[in-house]
Amino acid sequence: MFTVAQKQHSTQDLRRLDKQYVWHPFAPMKLWLESDPLVITAAEGMHLIDSDGRRYLDGVSSLWCNVHGHRVPEIDDAVRRQLDRVAHTTMLGLANEPAALLAERLMAVVPSSLAKVFYSDAGATATEVAFKLAAQYWHNVGRPERNEFVGFAEAYHGDTVGAMSVGRIPAFHRPYFPMLFPVHFAPTPYVYQYDLEGASEDEKPEFVKQHCLRELKAILERHGPKIAAVCIEPMVQGAGGIIVQPPGFLAEVARLTKEYGALLIADEVAVGFGRTGTMFACEQERVRPDLMCVAKGLTGGYLPLAATFASQKIFDAFLGDPWDGRTFYHGHTYTGNPLACAAALASLDLFERNKLVDHVAKAAGSLWHMLQPLKDLPHVGEVRQLGFMVGIELVGDKATKAPYDPRLRVGAEVCLRCRARGVIVRPLGVVVVLMPPPAMGEDDLRTIVDAVAAEIAGL
Ligand SMILES: Cc1ncc(COP(=O)(O)O)c(C=O)c1O
Repeated sequence: MFTVAQKQHSTQDLRRLDKQYVWHPFAPMKLWLESDPLVITAAEGMHLIDSDGRRYLDGVSSLWCNVHGHRVPEIDDAVRRQLDRVAHTTMLGLANEPAALLAERLMAVVPSSLAKVFYSDAGATATEVAFKLAAQYWHNVGRPERNEFVGFAEAYHGDTVGAMSVGRIPAFHRPYFPMLFPVHFAPTPYVYQYDLEGASEDEKPEFVKQHCLRELKAILERHGPKIAAVCIEPMVQGAGGIIVQPPGFLAEVARLTKEYGALLIADEVAVGFGRTGTMFACEQERVRPDLMCVAKGLTGGYLPLAATFASQKIFDAFLGDPWDGRTFYHGHTYTGNPLACAAALASLDLFERNKLVDHVAKAAGSLWHMLQPLKDLPHVGEVRQLGFMVGIELVGDKATKAPYDPRLRVGAEVCLRCRARGVIVRPLGVVVVLMPPPAMGEDDLRTIVDAVAAEIAGL
């Protein structure tokens, strides 16, 4: 006999309940209410299974977070073992075992500039923590005038107010502009869409890179003494459309930031944990940030956990007597949740045991070959890839790069049609995003690419 929790509900019932009560993130709800949403009730390995038993490859890593697949025995067991001890205990005033063990393990893999970890529970909280730490660091060292931030156009750091201020995507954030704090925005080297007269296609990446760096330098030249930090999504600007930065851009941003005395915040929420072919994207250009944010892949995509790493220098500036006003008064109820930390520890074991970063680096080459034919499709403007992060930009007219009418929702349409082929992917506007879990094998990658290619070809 089923208990209430185990009772099997029909797809129709679940859809009805969802539509009646649930407000979905990033969803135009009018369209949602007119649709027949998939209801996921189970998963196995790289597949999600819906309430009618149909299986779909998780081509979006359950929103860029799943790493090893679903229902991974080692992570399941680690969470169950922790559940037998304690599910949650606060980090305000108490330490806990998995959080301490995880901190040590993380320190062994993050860039060597980082010495301390501050836990929270989402990418947006990790970036908010970084902004607040940067601002308070300068306050604590007697330079309170350094309280302004530099970000990049179309960057994304989450949906809380600080995160929306520093990473501002007009399509998402326009209604909130009046409540955001002012930020200096440098241009993003979005080579494909960059209007640059006189440069050939071959020269363009370098020209665009140099142009963006000059603009960044001009901002730092003008406002340098007031800048607390420069914040960047290293190597790939994710939600802005999987914009892969030209080689050398990140390293030069880091160099300029240092030259002007500001802190460097690396937002590795999307790119961290193997997705670009190295454990952290910063490694690819030997960048050592002062603050680094991770979330999504930290627990293998199992449970909400985030971390903001800080250098020893930053940490030391917060030491003092309680009445000195140096304390970082920030925290979240579920900070350092033991179940999530246990999942993260098991995930790190799997990274090592399965040599997962090497797998991504190697399989990314095969993925690149699979993607080449898409470049010839009439409505594909550009295919961008770094590791297992892929953006396929659709255009109305390939020759002129004229965009599709947004009302056609071509990106969403392609992704919807892929479901009939047993593949779940999700667009960012006109960019179809492939973000397979780092552990995905080449056969499954091929299935995803073939499904997407067929649906784009049919546009
Ligand atoms: C680079 C980056 N930073 C921050 C976030 C926000 O993470 P979360 O959705 O967990 O708040 C995201 C989410 O996509 C992201 O891509």
